Amino acid sequence: MQEEIRSLTVQSHRGEYPVRRMPVTRALPAHPLPSDRFVVDERVRQLHPVLETLAPDRQTLAVTADEELKSLDGVTGILSWLLDSGFHRGGTLYVVGGGTVQDAAAFAASVLHRGVPWVFVPTTLLAQGDSCIGSKSSINHGGYKNQLGTFFPPAGVIVDDHFLTTLAPSEVRSGVGEMLHYAVVGGGQLFDDWDLALAGGWDRLSTREMSALAMHAMAVKRDFVELDEFDTGVRRNLNFGHTFGHGLEFASGGRIPHGIAVAYGILLANDYAAQHGTLDPATRTRVERVVRRLVDGSELAQVNGRAVFQGMTKDKKRSDGEIELILIEDLGRPVRTRVPLDGHLELFIDDHLAAW
Ligand SMILES: NC(=O)c1ccc[n+]([C@@H]2O[C@H](COP(=O)([O-])OP(=O)(O)OC[C@H]3O[C@@H](n4cnc5c(N)ncnc54)[C@H](O)[C@@H]3O)[C@@H](O)[C@H]2O)c1
Ligand SMILES: [Zn+2]
Repeated sequence: MQEEIRSLTVQSHRGEYPVRRMPVTRALPAHPLPSDRFVVDERVRQLHPVLETLAPDRQTLAVTADEELKSLDGVTGILSWLLDSGFHRGGTLYVVGGGTVQDAAAFAASVLHRGVPWVFVPTTLLAQGDSCIGSKSSINHGGYKNQLGTFFPPAGVIVDDHFLTTLAPSEVRSGVGEMLHYAVVGGGQLFDDWDLALAGGWDRLSTREMSALAMHAMAVKRDFVELDEFDTGVRRNLNFGHTFGHGLEFASGGRIPHGIAVAYGILLANDYAAQHGTLDPATRTRVERVVRRLVDGSELAQVNGRAVFQGMTKDKKRSDGEIELILIEDLGRPVRTRVPLDGHLELFIDDHLAAW
């Protein structure tokens, strides 16, 4: 196992911000300023009573983490509460929850008074290892997911392992899928660490292992984000596993959780690269062995190849009958390629699904 990362910094267009891995009881002020406000996932608030002392009721908005929150109406609710409760630029907005609460609250923070400082306390594995850095906020609109958004980094991030103790197993499993794509894109020791960590089964991971590995995933993401915060070039390599993954999510009508779809997406991408001679079959097999500790193909039974292909054609990165597909040439060596959206691709997906 690599050494644990306790803190790191992220450079952004609004300056540098710290990520600190420590208990919230030490990281958050024991007595918030009267001007501070908290937007907290209500489920997390119930499960972690410590938040009741750190985030006093009168300064807290408890929200339900669902897709409705990630909408203009959801953001309006947060903005109205902030304005009605007298929040002003002198205060800090603390946001506690997973990626859903983050996306809505960060969007609100980015437009209120043209930007107010917000500090994020991620409480899911996905939020701790992935969404908490990178500046993006996204909300849904008119039935389209993540179509409205801003780039607005937090002023700081506090990662507390303890929140992971109450996550539902399905959230852990999906979070691990998301983390695995960082392990493959990052390569090196991080991949070996996941190989070792998953040897006993994903459901046996300790919260400490998860959080430690999430910090390393974040370090991989940080390196790409610092080079290309606005996602116009090299950061897109982080979509590895996601193009096929989005196709699978679409084809399953959202039944396959995001991180699990990404895990299958990793296998599809590597299969594609191996078939096209750009990935050594031994590496493909090595990655597959680790990913199969998380997925066994059962989710794919009802999935139709044509629907996966159709889902991929809806990808935002599509243009002129082609799609950007991120492949790897080796562990730690992602490459961006353009692939025609044609019968060959559809046949490839059909064959892959049939082979499970
Ligand atoms: N902004 C970004 O860069 C970015 C990146 C990736 C994903 N996202 C977005 O993140 C969202 C998904 O976020 P998520 O996977 O973190 O899940 P989530 O925030 O939707 O939370 C999932 C469930 O877990 C509950 N929960 C949260 N923390 C918990 C805890 N500690 N214990 C028990 N239950 C807890 C929530 O109440 C919810 O029911 C998606 O909308 C996605 O689009 C954003
Ligand atoms: Zn993802």
